[in-house]
Amino acid sequence: MNQDDLKRAVAVAAIEYVPADCIVGVGTGSTANFFIDELAKIRHKIRGAVASSEASAKRLKGHGIEVFALNDAGDLPVYVDGADEITRHMHMVKGGGGALTREKIVAAASRKFICVCDESKLVDVLGRFPLPVEVIPMARSSVARQLVALGGQPALREGFTTDNGNLILDVRGLQIMNPVELESTLDHIAGVVTNGLFARRPADVLLLGTVSGVKTMTAQ
Ligand code: 5RP
Repeated sequence: MNQDDLKRAVAVAAIEYVPADCIVGVGTGSTANFFIDELAKIRHKIRGAVASSEASAKRLKGHGIEVFALNDAGDLPVYVDGADEITRHMHMVKGGGGALTREKIVAAASRKFICVCDESKLVDVLGRFPLPVEVIPMARSSVARQLVALGGQPALREGFTTDNGNLILDVRGLQIMNPVELESTLDHIAGVVTNGLFARRPADVLLLGTVSGVKTMTAQ
């Protein structure tokens, strides 16, 4: 089994969490793409989807799945998305694909967050993956200086603009011992739109793709 097989297996498992006749929240990235492909197989059983990125919206539409604006959809029963890292407490680092802001918005509007990952993403402590921080362009340097003051080493994601027209700083070297507190601290820096810590609103269920099958986990 390769990594794509594990991603496909968790995408198949996630379909069980999609109620009939609903609008489903859909994440971004390679694992979310497998989920979109599975969703296409049951498209006649759902009303449609809210996408967390332009890329996911395009893929959904390509499969003939109606894409709703979140403002028109109201609260969603379920949001399905991948992660760059996740702990047993269901705290995550996300934003490797740069869609963190819309991901956090759609997740916040959803009653259940189903995280779909292959087993390489499960960690004891967050922080090996550089933490993405979306910043308003005029605040790039001042935010970077404050991230350095917090012990981080920010690097501009070169040649990348988010769907919201902003920049991403990828931050290495942060000690993420208290993800809930750090998420709030980073959000309070003027010019930060969103940071990639998803700890205040953790996942409800993790579907973890392993060589021995899909494991279903909840917060420990
Ligand atoms: C995109 C994300 C993705 O969920 C994260 O990067 C994981 O992606 P993949 O499934 O390709 O490993 O947060 O902004």
